[in-house]
Amino acid sequence: MAVKRWIVPSIFFVFLSGLALVLLGQNLLWKRVYRQPEQPIAFSHEIHVGKLNLKCTTCHTTVEKSIRAGVPAVATCMSCHKAVAADRPQVQKLREFWEKKEPIPWEKIHNLPPHVYFSHKRHIQAGIDCATCHGEVRVMPEIRQVRSLKMGWCVDCHRAKAAPLDCYTCHK
Ligand code: HEC
Ligand code: HEC
Ligand code: HEC
Ligand code: HEC
Ligand code: HEC
Repeated sequence: MAVKRWIVPSIFFVFLSGLALVLLGQNLLWKRVYRQPEQPIAFSHEIHVGKLNLKCTTCHTTVEKSIRAGVPAVATCMSCHKAVAADRPQVQKLREFWEKKEPIPWEKIHNLPPHVYFSHKRHIQAGIDCATCHGEVRVMPEIRQVRSLKMGWCVDCHRAKAAPLDCYTCHK
């Protein structure tokens, strides 16, 4: 009798553990495919773009004129944060980098292999929005990669938009 009473709860427990494992696995897989590494300062695009409406080019100053978008210098942040929100712990961390005159070691999230040539300038000039390749950054408290960046992804759009398809375009 005592055994029978435990059967239903035991099955239920095994089922729940299984479910938890699957969900944990998916979460880890998600973070690997859609890269979202830990950053040295909790910088939020949701605050700076979504709430404050800053333009991408205020910080990513070279995106329209070079192959790289670029990440802002500490001085760009400090133009506001000498005064703004200066008491918050994450902003104090920012100030420490400023006082030590050290760049912030942001971990780069989007990475193509070295044998691939990519240029921001060309795509911006062709009128492609940042969101097409980077998703809705303005709602991301922590930025993450939302596209595979695989060859098939590049080539699909090139075919659709009649952009060059020969191998030398992307492999110099
Ligand atoms: C106030 C400055 C600021 C503004 C404005 C800003 N960014 Fe950023 N962005 C950063 C900083 C700092 C990083 C590096 C830290 C991080 O990854 O969160 C970054 C990282 C990124 C990355 C990830 C780069 C990588 O490592 O691969 C993308 C993509 C990006 N920003 C897109 C945008 C877009 C699109 C906009 C406009 C809609 C925008 N950003 C506006 C400061 C800014
Ligand atoms: C144009 C002015 C401006 C610039 C440039 C700017 N910020 Fe901010 N930042 C703000 C304001 C305003 C807030 C407070 C927003 C709020 O809480 O509503 C803020 C909030 C923050 C916070 C605090 C979030 C919290 O609540 O703990 C951090 C961290 C931060 N910014 C980092 C940065 C970094 C890093 C840069 C440079 C890449 C940067 N900011 C550039 C205006 C700016
Ligand atoms: C056609 C797709 C595409 C568009 C449009 C695009 N990006 Fe990117 N972005 C990429 C790829 C691919 C990388 C990774 C390149 C590499 O490996 O360096 C990247 C990397 C970045 C990085 C990392 C640092 C760097 O300098 O490369 C930032 C920041 C960034 N993009 C911001 C932006 C912003 C801001 C816009 C809009 C003004 C934008 N991107 C538009 C595809 C795109
Ligand atoms: C959303 C659509 C889209 C995606 C995604 C995209 N591209 Fe493009 N790409 C274009 C368009 C449109 C042009 C043509 C621009 C022009 O006419 O100057 C272009 C042009 C280029 C050029 C310049 C070609 C030349 O010789 O003038 C290179 C290099 C390039 N893309 C590489 C890439 C790589 C690498 C990826 C993936 C990591 C990629 N693109 C993803 C739309 C895209
Ligand atoms: C529009 C850009 C684009 C064009 C055009 C393109 N590639 Fe690629 N290719 C990429 C990107 C991005 C990667 C890296 C990501 C990946 O491995 O999918 C890549 C990776 C590769 C790899 C390495 C695959 C691996 O597993 O490491 C080979 C080989 C390759 N491409 C061959 C070619 C050949 C051959 C052509 C011409 C028929 C071509 N590519 C045209 C963007 C392009």
